[in-house]
Amino acid sequence: MEIVLATGNKKKIEEIKRITADLPITILSLSDYPNCPETVEDKDTFEGNATKKAVEVCQCTGKAALADDSGLEVDALKGAPGVYSARYAGEGANDVKNNEKLLQELKNIPQDKRTAQFVCCMALALPGGDVKTFFGFAKGRIGLEPKGKTGFGYDPVFTPDGFDRTFAEMSGEEKDRLSHRGKALEKLRNFLHDRPHL
Ligand code: IMP
Repeated sequence: MEIVLATGNKKKIEEIKRITADLPITILSLSDYPNCPETVEDKDTFEGNATKKAVEVCQCTGKAALADDSGLEVDALKGAPGVYSARYAGEGANDVKNNEKLLQELKNIPQDKRTAQFVCCMALALPGGDVKTFFGFAKGRIGLEPKGKTGFGYDPVFTPDGFDRTFAEMSGEEKDRLSHRGKALEKLRNFLHDRPHL
């Protein structure tokens, strides 16, 4: 089965390819379809944005499409940055600026109140019109300073529950076993396993 990945984020593509490497699917990338327009992520839920991305790419390519919408929810910030995780620092936002802003917002919050979770919604849109969504969550806490060099996004400030290293201090495979994306893709794996002729 061929699936077009409806994301241009190289780090997400790397993780999704690594986690699905043993599945009987061929992952195609959006760069194989340069005429597909970029989806405007204007929904206020992970599921809304993931579904919109997957459906648009499925319609444009005529092939099954898989989209990931994900982000970080911080309890002390009432769930922010949430669906706005990628653009948290505003105009010109990047990973370093987003992490700086997050640490600044949490500067008066004590360690035991810095709880957070990563959320991932993966949407699979099929050419017949069906859409399936799969959620994954990773609970943890936000540190006092960035640590580690692997991964992307908020990985250097996020320590998963039960560990004393951030995602950015782990190997890709170790993060995959614990991460929101790894857990959502595990559900996709089970779905595809039960439908070998999709
Ligand atoms: P999206 O492209 O709108 O889904 O934005 C996702 C944003 O959430 C990324 O740009 C990161 O800031 C953050 N994010 C999602 N997943 C991860 C992860 O696995 N590690 C670190 N940050 C993540």
